[in-house]
Amino acid sequence: MDDSKERHVGGGTLIHQMDTVERAESAKAKYALYQQVCEQLQGLIGEESNLVANAANTSALLFQVLPDVNWVGFYLAEGDELVLGPFQGKPACVRIPFGKGVCGTAAAERKTIIVPDVDQFPGHIACDSVSRSEIVVPLLNWGRVLGVLDVDSASLNRFDEEDEEGLESVVSIFLSSHPTNDLPDLSEGAAEE
Ligand code: SME
Repeated sequence: MDDSKERHVGGGTLIHQMDTVERAESAKAKYALYQQVCEQLQGLIGEESNLVANAANTSALLFQVLPDVNWVGFYLAEGDELVLGPFQGKPACVRIPFGKGVCGTAAAERKTIIVPDVDQFPGHIACDSVSRSEIVVPLLNWGRVLGVLDVDSASLNRFDEEDEEGLESVVSIFLSSHPTNDLPDLSEGAAEE
């Protein structure tokens, strides 16, 4: 009997199982890494409520501990634009209108955006030409968009759901250090008031 098909199917199943195990292991490792990052960030921020100081330390910490990233930083909302804030990495473009690029889209849509391949994202703004994939998490406070956290990698497909969850936890720790009444009101219509 020709069992070549069976061998092929068997091999395929083994590869699939290894793949599933590797993914689960990688998810577990990422979860543990972000847990550690969150604890370190709590310690770094302490009682400090200065937005620029905390954004600077948050980007420095992430740049140090996250593997395979080439740019980490904040864009802070000003009117209908995002303006470059504290970051680590190569110099970057200063102003991004809401709705433009990955950052402006995440801010306008108020949701995290993962871009597995920046060349496939229409309107992607290239700051560091080595960046191949990117994740942008909006800074949301009671419906107001304070800005975004942007993380880039020189590898394709670097970011997944674990990074999304982990970075959203990082952002919530960052935001909780600021008294709500110190945040600019950028909700719809507030700019005209
Ligand atoms: N790529 C971003 C611009 C910011 S840099 O990556 C630092 C975007 O498309 O919005």
